Amino acid sequence: SAAEKGGYDWFMLKEIEEQPQAIADTLLGRLTETGEIALDEVRLSEQDLRDVDKIFIVACGTAYHSGLVAKYAIEHWTRIPCEVELASEFRYRDPVLDRSTLIVVISQSGETMDTLMALRHAKEQKARVLAICNTNGSTIPRESDAVLYTHGGPEIAVASTKAFLTQLVACYLIGLHLAQVRGIKFADEVGAVVAQLQEMPGKLRELLDRIEPVRELARELKSEPTVLFIGRHVGYPVALEGALKLKELAYMHAEGFAAGELKHGPIALIDKGTPVICIVPSPIGRGMLHDKVVSNIQEVRARGARTIVIAEEGDEAVVRYADHLIYVPRTPTLLAPLVTTVPLQVLAAEIAAGRGHDVDQPRNLAKSVTVE
Ligand code: AGP
Repeated sequence: SAAEKGGYDWFMLKEIEEQPQAIADTLLGRLTETGEIALDEVRLSEQDLRDVDKIFIVACGTAYHSGLVAKYAIEHWTRIPCEVELASEFRYRDPVLDRSTLIVVISQSGETMDTLMALRHAKEQKARVLAICNTNGSTIPRESDAVLYTHGGPEIAVASTKAFLTQLVACYLIGLHLAQVRGIKFADEVGAVVAQLQEMPGKLRELLDRIEPVRELARELKSEPTVLFIGRHVGYPVALEGALKLKELAYMHAEGFAAGELKHGPIALIDKGTPVICIVPSPIGRGMLHDKVVSNIQEVRARGARTIVIAEEGDEAVVRYADHLIYVPRTPTLLAPLVTTVPLQVLAAEIAAGRGHDVDQPRNLAKSVTVE
């Protein structure tokens, strides 16, 4: 009913708006005043966590994209090798696992069949399984050795939004916790990242309060036959997630690419006017990455693309190459997906609505995929 949707036309729009709160709730009680990560509810001993020598993150769809982002953060902070794999692939192959492998399964519903089967496959080989899940008491956390719940609240729309952002937060917490427990030199920096995480709800609120231009952009793009997304580093999974949203909601052809791969094939797709959504990393810190994406923007534009650039506030370098520019609040690179994903969610929802689709219940899809 309209009341359940809190005045929004669609649950998805309501859930997008709930993201600052969802993130704050997922952080709540997990950061101590001294900047430590407190994850007592993760029932793996500190010794177990010290023994981990390899991590596999296994999930489907949007949850898989959160795992792709997590890899960059976890490897950087912990120096533990981390692989990310689709559950539907992992479950049918013969991965090399043992007692010191940590499997992180990510699932909003906790009932996704492929993810559950991947979990069982890992447990048969004695790996330890930690679930990141949004649904209390669902099957995946029940069968796992440990669980870290995301506190996103119920997500009704089929397209995942606040679950994705809270999954990212959970992954960051696990990465920071592992770094701390293992006494990695990086642990000194944990405090700084914790402070940055605590600023995220405020930054998201700010971003959502001035999202209107994205709705206008949606009206302009709604009849396009195809939309491409490019990014590097953590911006690459954001590109994949932006494309997935557009496919599932707007039924448009959309693809995400690693910007560095353009020359190896995808750039041939660029035609006059092809919209290319470019996720630009912060010019601060990993500055080289930023410049690489800016040159990729120039390359696609030189071939006729219409560039839609998502960049950090104050980034002047992109202005002259952007046909449309969307600024997001300044955020350290590893945490940037928490902000850069949001305009892509709004864009997909608004395009879908503009094309007359049911935003909450896209055709052919179910909220929880409990069959293969
Ligand atoms: C997201 O928008 C999708 N509807 C879908 O990819 C989803 O994330 C995937 O099916 C995994 O679901 P889960 O998190 O409940 O396991």
